[in-house]
Amino acid sequence: MVEHVLHTKVRRAFEARFQRDPDLIVRAPGRVNLIGEHTDYNDGFVLPVAVDRAAWLAVAKTDDAWAKVRALDMQNDEETFSVDRVPASNGGWADYPKGVVWAMLERDLSPVGILAVLTSDVPVGAGMSSSAAVEVVFGFAWDQLSDFDLKLPELALLCQRAENEYVGVNCGIMDQMISACGRAGHAMLLDTRSLQRAYFSMPDGIAIVVADSNVRRSLSGSEYNVRRAQCENAVSILKAHLPEIKALRDVTPEQLKRFGEELPDVVYRRARHVVTENARVLAVSRDLYEGDLVHVGKLLVEGHISLRDDYEVSIPELDTLVEAAIEVDGCYGARLTGAGFGGCIIALADEDAVPDLAAHLNEVYTARHSRQPAVYITRPGDGVTVVG
Ligand code: GLA
Repeated sequence: MVEHVLHTKVRRAFEARFQRDPDLIVRAPGRVNLIGEHTDYNDGFVLPVAVDRAAWLAVAKTDDAWAKVRALDMQNDEETFSVDRVPASNGGWADYPKGVVWAMLERDLSPVGILAVLTSDVPVGAGMSSSAAVEVVFGFAWDQLSDFDLKLPELALLCQRAENEYVGVNCGIMDQMISACGRAGHAMLLDTRSLQRAYFSMPDGIAIVVADSNVRRSLSGSEYNVRRAQCENAVSILKAHLPEIKALRDVTPEQLKRFGEELPDVVYRRARHVVTENARVLAVSRDLYEGDLVHVGKLLVEGHISLRDDYEVSIPELDTLVEAAIEVDGCYGARLTGAGFGGCIIALADEDAVPDLAAHLNEVYTARHSRQPAVYITRPGDGVTVVG
């Protein structure tokens, strides 16, 4: 089998830097989400796929208690830190491995010292979970080298904790779970409350097309937290009538209609997005299983409109890409993927229709926004794996 180009790159860079062979090469993917946006921090459902772009780590265990970590994509930036006592975060890329060690120590796990070289082809800031891929690749490598034997969902939770409490980004569990537990050829339906998963195979002849607006997320940190707070606000108001609810996951569309008048308009619309989106995730999973792609496509577009109008996390560039995609014959539907405010859309299309789709997206987007999108097919891949 021919080695992936990043496999070779990361191994050679490791050998050149440390004058020895790595013990392991580990790969952890980024993701796109088919549907279920901003539902994970509401205990809801998501349907992501792990993609064929990933973070790659060449790594070896040492006898001391230091981690020496180098990132090829950051001008070979290298940091050394103690795995017994992690220094405070400083906003650099190495916050991810430091955060993973921090979260392990919080769980009374003692990770070994390592030498490591990292590279990745998951675009940064594009809403494809480049940071979760880095957390999971380091987390898995440490788990293997330190013989912790963590279950993959435990590893995902640990990486999420690193991101929430050490890096300081209040994300949900979707990205780490799919990077850890993805399955080639499949989308993963995840209940973010119980972490139960079901895998749905993607139909033959259908492509998941990514169109990257090349607008990088800017507001997402603060706006993301504002959305979270609005969802919590909705729950606290609705609890007066529905004392049993813990999260918006527990509210049905009918209940929201019935008691929604008591919510401020903006809070009502945020809640409506989450409640209807949860229903869409389950419907898309069922339709994928039954092969009803026309209905899947319709639900993807409804999901986009809900993110645009009720959740207000789209931007004109993403709306243009979605509108242009669904004009093309053989494209079933499209929507923004990830947190929003920039990044990518995904479109589901017949493989035969992809050349026309790419040409149309390029033409319309460039004419309207004076910049080019990056359009490519992505193939559902496996979650984190040792590859050598
Ligand atoms: C980001 C977060 C995820 C999820 C999405 C929105 O990717 O990391 O946890 O909340 O946004 O669906």
